[in-house]
Amino acid sequence: MAITFESLDSDIAGRTGKLGAGKRIIKTPALLPVINPHLMLVTPKELRAMGVEALITNAYIFSQSRQYSERVKEEGLHKLLDFDGLIMTDSGSFQLSVYGQVSFTNKQTLSYQRDIGSDIWVPLDIPTSPDADRPTTERELAITMERLREAKELFGNDAPLAGPVQGGIFPDLRERAGKEVGDLGFSFCPIGAVVPLMESYRYRELVDVVMAAKSTIPRSACVHLFGAGHPAMFALAAAMGCDLFDSAAYALYAKDGRYLTTHGSFRIDELTDLPCACAVCRSHTAEELCTAKDRTRLLALHNLAVTLAEISRIRQAIADGTLWELVDERCRTHPQLLSGYRRLLSHAADLELYDRASKRRFFYRGDESCARTEVLRYQRQLDRLRLGKTVLVACDGKEREGYDDVLFFKPPFGPYPPALKETFPIGPAEIPPWDEAMVRQGCRGIRMLAESHKESRIMVSGLLNWEEIFTQEAGDAAELVR
Ligand code: GUN
Ligand code: ZN
Repeated sequence: MAITFESLDSDIAGRTGKLGAGKRIIKTPALLPVINPHLMLVTPKELRAMGVEALITNAYIFSQSRQYSERVKEEGLHKLLDFDGLIMTDSGSFQLSVYGQVSFTNKQTLSYQRDIGSDIWVPLDIPTSPDADRPTTERELAITMERLREAKELFGNDAPLAGPVQGGIFPDLRERAGKEVGDLGFSFCPIGAVVPLMESYRYRELVDVVMAAKSTIPRSACVHLFGAGHPAMFALAAAMGCDLFDSAAYALYAKDGRYLTTHGSFRIDELTDLPCACAVCRSHTAEELCTAKDRTRLLALHNLAVTLAEISRIRQAIADGTLWELVDERCRTHPQLLSGYRRLLSHAADLELYDRASKRRFFYRGDESCARTEVLRYQRQLDRLRLGKTVLVACDGKEREGYDDVLFFKPPFGPYPPALKETFPIGPAEIPPWDEAMVRQGCRGIRMLAESHKESRIMVSGLLNWEEIFTQEAGDAAELVR
């Protein structure tokens, strides 16, 4: 049965949706915990009880397992793992990238994934290192694309096949890969080989890679960010339109004695208190958790709870239209995430094409908020206002006689007609006392208004101490009146 994806609410380029594969339908964004059958800290049954609808496991590990390789063929994955949710299998690709070689062909891994009853199958793509040079990246991408073509030919368009998008660090190769994967008819597109970027906090490059891939992957396809497991970066990735994450992080961090939070991870022996509402943290003191015999398992349970809660928070933020606020909050917890966030804002013109028209609110959270999609769109649409010959922008909100039109001013958006006072974004925007960045951005709005209304004479009053900024940003397009 083919993979289906339906999107519901959207915010920035993120969306909530429903992914269907096999007999199952799950809510997205979703987290797929990684299960290694040999080292299960938390069982699939326990995951299900925590609200997990889908998990991911590795077909290569099963095929090489003395304990499970026969059983899984007889019973199938769902029975063997005792999990009735959606199960995605990865091919041996990651092992290939880590160990250099696997004894599977593309056809073999896909047949195997089918035979063990997986709901989503991944071909043997090549996860090219972000440090590979261009010729290597191109060569490996060509092999990946050939294998995706082969997969479609062998198993047909209705097989539940994932089409990984590779292309290393080169945006144009990611764009090409995204387009070709879409043209081949894949409706489920993981973005691959980003683990090394995330492991070394290269979020700026991650943003460029994901934005490039997303620009050509069909909007109707479900996008999985392969190997993304730290909850501090989910909001950033969701804002770019990533629908699925898979996490081994909950277990890997636990084994390392690390306690995940949405604002970074901590060594458990450094914590004097447990800032979390999950069952583990409410039933243990920090010291008890640190010295518990089953510490690794308890940490894994906590790490999962935090990670799942963040996914729920993201879904709610998308429904409310407050994803930018969440991204802003999460990305201030690490300098490299902040750099990724700023990079994302530099792509705001592309994101604006996806962003929704109306949201519950707009919270101004500092300079970065000036570059948000809502500001860009508002200012771009100023050319739609119908104005008379003389227009006053009354920045102090005081109406004056003698003009064809009087507009008011709300930074960082800029001028607005009284009729828009209550509508998004002007009405629901919560802004603190004016600061330089927002006034500067608002004055750019005045400039755009003036440039798109050459027949009108635009005059500005009531800017008080901000006149110098006005002069710099819009002084040659509009005139100050006192
Ligand atoms: N897991 C993490 N990254 C990748 C990738 O690029 N491809 C596959 N198949 N699995 C992965
Ligand atoms: Zn907890």
